[in-house]
Amino acid sequence: MDNEILNVKNLYFDYTDTSVLRDVSFTLKKGDFLGIIGANGAGKSTLIKIILKILPFNRGEINLFGEDLSKFKDNFKIGYVSQKANSFNSDFPATVREVVMANLYSRKGLFKRYTKEDNEKLKKVLDKVGMAGFENKLIGKLSGGQQQRIFIARALISEPELLLMDEPTVGVDAKSVKQIMDIICELNKQGMTIIMTNHDTPELVRVSNKLLIFCEHGNGEFVSRNDLTVAEVNDIFAGKRVHHHA
Ligand SMILES: Nc1ncnc2c1ncn2[C@@H]1O[C@H](COP(=O)(O)OP(=O)(O)OP(=O)(O)O)[C@@H](O)[C@H]1O
Ligand SMILES: [Mg+2]
Repeated sequence: MDNEILNVKNLYFDYTDTSVLRDVSFTLKKGDFLGIIGANGAGKSTLIKIILKILPFNRGEINLFGEDLSKFKDNFKIGYVSQKANSFNSDFPATVREVVMANLYSRKGLFKRYTKEDNEKLKKVLDKVGMAGFENKLIGKLSGGQQQRIFIARALISEPELLLMDEPTVGVDAKSVKQIMDIICELNKQGMTIIMTNHDTPELVRVSNKLLIFCEHGNGEFVSRNDLTVAEVNDIFAGKRVHHHA
């Protein structure tokens, strides 16, 4: 069980008036790439927020890095790119350097000065997302797609073991999407565990080795295989092969 990263068991979640997740179970091992597929409102972001402890769940069990989620404290092991992270107003008083470097605080503690090594890390991640040289720009003065790339850099700088990305490439142009997906696949090959939602089903099927497919109302079907075709995924998605849990 050493390389088990995440275990979600019989998870249920309701907002006050909406039942969203119903009996969702899956397990991820180190180096897995989970793609989450589902229509708008299916519960994809909700699931990610539960794993991040932004939302409390009603029923079920979650183990993260072998610990009960409520006891998990090693936040530095986790990277997160939220859906539509790129909505800063243009006066927001932070530079790209500050936004990206802020994610090193969890390791350094507040008010530590950045070392030369930190600055090298910053350069490297900005280069990875195609934003080299933007260190001193105000985040709010960048375009939506540029901001999104900065948020990906922010998640990567702390070298997380588990990276959760909620539609990370929305608003990013096609060439940059390819560049960013290549980086994520490379990190995955090097052993980083990834969870990603994306409305581009063929792309997710291509890059992932496990899939969680929400047919409707958060009935998640977990598919732990990497040989599904896009057509088969669409069949599952359309409810043609739904597993009914006992
Ligand atoms: N804070 C909230 N309070 C009440 N209901 C919510 C809240 N956030 C989301 N919901 C509802 O929960 C359901 C799941 O929302 P969620 O954001 O998880 O969907 P999603 O799969 O991420 O959709 P999208 O593809 O649009 O991002 C939706 O029906 C939504 O209306
Ligand atoms: Mg969402």
